[in-house]
Amino acid sequence: MKTMYWKDDLLYLLDQTILPHETEYLVCGSYQDVITAIKTMVVRGAPAIGVAAAFGMVLAYLADEDMEKAAQEMKDARPTAVNLFWAVDRIMASDDPLKEALLMYEEDMDTNRSMGRHGAEVIDDGDTILTHCNAGALACVDYGTALGVIRAANAEGKNISVVCDETRPVLQGARLSVWEMQQENIPVKLIVDGAAGRLMQEGAINKVVIGADRVAKGGVANKIGSLMVALAAKRFNVPFYVAAPKSTFDYENSIYDIEIEERDPVEVLGFAGCFAAPLTTEVRNPSFDVVPSDLITGIITEDGILEPF
Ligand code: MRU
Repeated sequence: MKTMYWKDDLLYLLDQTILPHETEYLVCGSYQDVITAIKTMVVRGAPAIGVAAAFGMVLAYLADEDMEKAAQEMKDARPTAVNLFWAVDRIMASDDPLKEALLMYEEDMDTNRSMGRHGAEVIDDGDTILTHCNAGALACVDYGTALGVIRAANAEGKNISVVCDETRPVLQGARLSVWEMQQENIPVKLIVDGAAGRLMQEGAINKVVIGADRVAKGGVANKIGSLMVALAAKRFNVPFYVAAPKSTFDYENSIYDIEIEERDPVEVLGFAGCFAAPLTTEVRNPSFDVVPSDLITGIITEDGILEPF
């Protein structure tokens, strides 16, 4: 099942807001549809947002829209994942937007497989790997970054298992990563986010592999909770890897200068449609945090394993 596909001048997005219990594609016929899908997280995950945005720009082009305006609106959809800006700029620089978007779609799949091959080298037979959020096939066109590394190690015949943080408040770990691992028959356990430190303290985790929304000067930005996982990993000497394609690299900015998205308080006030806290409660809901370079063992890319910069 693909995260997205292009057919007859329409973009089909697997609706990640209703997974894993329902599998439906949302059809986007305009660039505004794609912006809404990115904002509402029908499509999410840095590489998937990038490729979806590229096709969104193709829809703008086919409808003879003002491309500069469409590009700005598309870039405003979510602020943290750099792939969004990278993808829009790439389409804007191209003479043939559709050809470029289809190339990006193919590149994403190739890149993830290369990343998987490199990343599998640091995974040992018998490892239990903790992952946070969903950096899987669903966060890309296919295969995944962090979960791509796990898929590759599994395909090499390594006997591995996975622990997924549930990843409050949107539950990408519980809803998406667990589901992906189950589809491949890779042994997987689900924990609440607060249990990650405890499992490391018990010696139950051998490696951490997560994805990134942006690799920048001084570290990486990834889903909220990644910093706490990295701190615990440092304390308990668990190697902490980030798997990210070069399209996620931002060589211009420091990780402390980029915008961290704050999402709707409603996500935090309750759970699965039921409110838990008093409705008048003040909420902070940063969607990402920043892991400094000194907590990162290595960055797994399509070109090999790099040091953070
Ligand atoms: O808010 P999301 O679901 O878009 O956040 C996704 C993540 O934080 C992923 O870990 C990251 O984008 C890497 S996906 C390969």
